[in-house]
Amino acid sequence: MERSLTMELVRVTEAAALKSARWMGRGKKEEADDAATTAMRAVFDTIPMQGTVVIGEGEMDEAPMLYIGEKLGTGNGPGVDVAVDPLEGTSIVANGSWNALSVIAIADKGTLLHAPDMYMNKIAVGPEAVGQIDINASTLENLEAVAKAKNKAIEDIVVTVLDRPRHHKLIEEIREAGARIKLISNGDVAGAINTAFDETGVDILMGIGGAPEGVIAAVALKCLGGEMQGKLFPTNQEQTDRCLKMGIDDLNKVLYMKDFCNGDDAIFAATGVTDGELLRGVQFKGKQATTETVVMRAKSGTVRFIDGTHSLQKKPNLVIK
Ligand code: FBP
Repeated sequence: MERSLTMELVRVTEAAALKSARWMGRGKKEEADDAATTAMRAVFDTIPMQGTVVIGEGEMDEAPMLYIGEKLGTGNGPGVDVAVDPLEGTSIVANGSWNALSVIAIADKGTLLHAPDMYMNKIAVGPEAVGQIDINASTLENLEAVAKAKNKAIEDIVVTVLDRPRHHKLIEEIREAGARIKLISNGDVAGAINTAFDETGVDILMGIGGAPEGVIAAVALKCLGGEMQGKLFPTNQEQTDRCLKMGIDDLNKVLYMKDFCNGDDAIFAATGVTDGELLRGVQFKGKQATTETVVMRAKSGTVRFIDGTHSLQKKPNLVIK
């Protein structure tokens, strides 16, 4: 992949964040998502690549834009798999809450997992605890292993968990182990990435969230030297059949890093839409807006934080050809 694609992806997530952030706190999650998707789609057309969406807004007949199989880019340049979540945390934006992101992951063609739109059980950690987690081990065993790897007491470990009734047992187990918990309303992509940054105060993500979000977060952790393990979690017969079609006949099959992305190279970009532990959300003032983006590449291991100041006067539609 061309290294220059890293900066091109920043333009894409910035555009989606700028448009969707206008909907913050207005109680309209679909509108916020549409705004992000439309902006993202417009900027993709300016990027020199031959992209195919493998994780997107849905199937062709249900999503007008960024559907699975859609071709993206100018049609010149490298062939890449594209995973998008134009607005990760639609309800977060609708409520004006924390940690909504616009995210993209790309990787060499044919190397990204085509995860179906269903749940996935996930466990994710940053670089210090790589090789120490096991999704089949007990909650206590995982927490002890992460604490040891990070040279912390188990009481010092912070676990991010989506605040859902399905996690009652997991939450009880974490409490019994003595670790602390950060319950989040939505946004487990941010929850996973945050494990790789000390300043977020989070050590591990556990629990069930979206499978597409799992692939996107796994690419970020690949770039950061972290680790995610996952297990697809179908909730009805149709989803179980879908797993079988994908060749996953054992629902206990553990997805490891090489299953999420089996190439050497991948690029991940995320722009904050609302404020979060890692990224500041979009701020508007008159004819200007500011953004904060993190962009990273697996091959080089480079992680950049990019502050953008955007002229809404010169670039009202966010694209200058
Ligand atoms: P949306 O952006 O589609 O609103 O998803 C946000 C999210 O919280 C993800 O971060 C997470 O993986 C998933 O939804 C959890 O799904 P559910 O809300 O059904 O528990």
